[in-house]
Amino acid sequence: MSAHGDPIPMTARGGYALTGTADVPGDKSISHRSLILGAMAVGETRVSGLLEGQDVLDTGRAMAALGAEVIRHGPGDWSVHGVGVGGFAEPEQVIDCGNSGTGVRLIMGAVATHDMAVTFTGDASLNGRPMGRVTDPLSLFGARAVGRAGGRLPLTLVGAAEPVPVRYATPVASAQVKSAVLLAGLNAPGRTVVVEREATRDHSERMLAGFGAEIETTRTDEGFEITLTGRPELRPQTIAVPRDPSSAAFPVCAALITEGSDVLVPNIGLNPTRAGLFDTLVEMGADLAFENRREEGGEPVADLRARFSPDMKGVRVPPERAASMIDEYPVLSVVAANATGVTEMPGVAELRVKESDRIDAMARGLRANGVEVEDGPDWWQVTGRGPGGVPGGATVAARLDHRIAMSFLCLGMAAKAPVTVDDAQPIATSFPIFEDLMKGLGAEIARGNG
Ligand code: S3P
Repeated sequence: MSAHGDPIPMTARGGYALTGTADVPGDKSISHRSLILGAMAVGETRVSGLLEGQDVLDTGRAMAALGAEVIRHGPGDWSVHGVGVGGFAEPEQVIDCGNSGTGVRLIMGAVATHDMAVTFTGDASLNGRPMGRVTDPLSLFGARAVGRAGGRLPLTLVGAAEPVPVRYATPVASAQVKSAVLLAGLNAPGRTVVVEREATRDHSERMLAGFGAEIETTRTDEGFEITLTGRPELRPQTIAVPRDPSSAAFPVCAALITEGSDVLVPNIGLNPTRAGLFDTLVEMGADLAFENRREEGGEPVADLRARFSPDMKGVRVPPERAASMIDEYPVLSVVAANATGVTEMPGVAELRVKESDRIDAMARGLRANGVEVEDGPDWWQVTGRGPGGVPGGATVAARLDHRIAMSFLCLGMAAKAPVTVDDAQPIATSFPIFEDLMKGLGAEIARGNG
């Protein structure tokens, strides 16, 4: 939803160990895809563990506006009665995807090969983000987009009446772009091919295969080539959404930097295309254990245990790892601020076009709290102050970005003086129970300016 009420400032203070079990919510990426593919299957898809964050709720409303029946049975327990590939109806109203880049880009893909016009909008953050990366490849199918300057939202997409299949090499490492093309390819005859130089999260591919589509990934000299055969009949599925590693990152990282902490985060999705943060933390010297590794619903999962780690050192994060931890750089920078030495993060230009310019948002907020940060167009680095060494004491801008808000609250949990974020409301887009969950572990967070 675009509606945004009065800001809710929130303050975290240090000196409180985090202990216990953190049941984080369902995976955001998988939740979006469950609703969208459920809407494109014939019959009832059942989803448990769905993330009930605002981003996903907005996608659910969009699927209903396109003709699917979306029903909530209980917490996280949903069903979608799909209309089949090619079966979407033209919505009567504008589709408002709120804060969600994933929602809007995937839905644009799904409707681009339908003979109808759909108008999309979002909040101030989403309406500032680049959409040409999706509308460019969708135009190859025969769709047309008319948006604001720079292809930004609000934007009307006129879907292709007679779509043709496409071969597209993604110019940026983006699972959203890849997924938009694949979803468009569902209702194009013949084979749609996406080529990506670096592997990005592959939830769409896994789930499309689960729904019965013919889809194959091969390694080539160009990178990864994903081939989808269009016009399948998608069979409804029963989907258990694993818990979100990107949400788990917050209690895990907060525990690593907060003296006396020992936190168990069960049932976390550890798809290798998502797990780069945990590899990086282990390289830094984090006391992190992966217990009970197993596979659930086609995705690898494990229980993560994180303990206070006073001996962490700065590292250089390899740029080729960026896609597998793209959402975790903000909270990694908070860990880096509490490590010894410099953490270098090259090859991350994409961070500048997320819900906010995340390099700028973190750099300014960390500096305000006494941490040295340098940054350039596609890199940044943080000089650690050692365990418990961050001065803190400042108020930072969340910039309508859930991960910026949560990262700075984690910073405050280990800092010498409290850290305040000016507006914690965006947290509800991905982690609506963040405040209660962190308080349950023992964190000292309160609404207000401290
Ligand atoms: C997502 C892909 C990533 C990520 C976003 C979720 C997805 O975006 O940042 O939070 O579910 O496909 P990009 O594909 O733009 O990198």
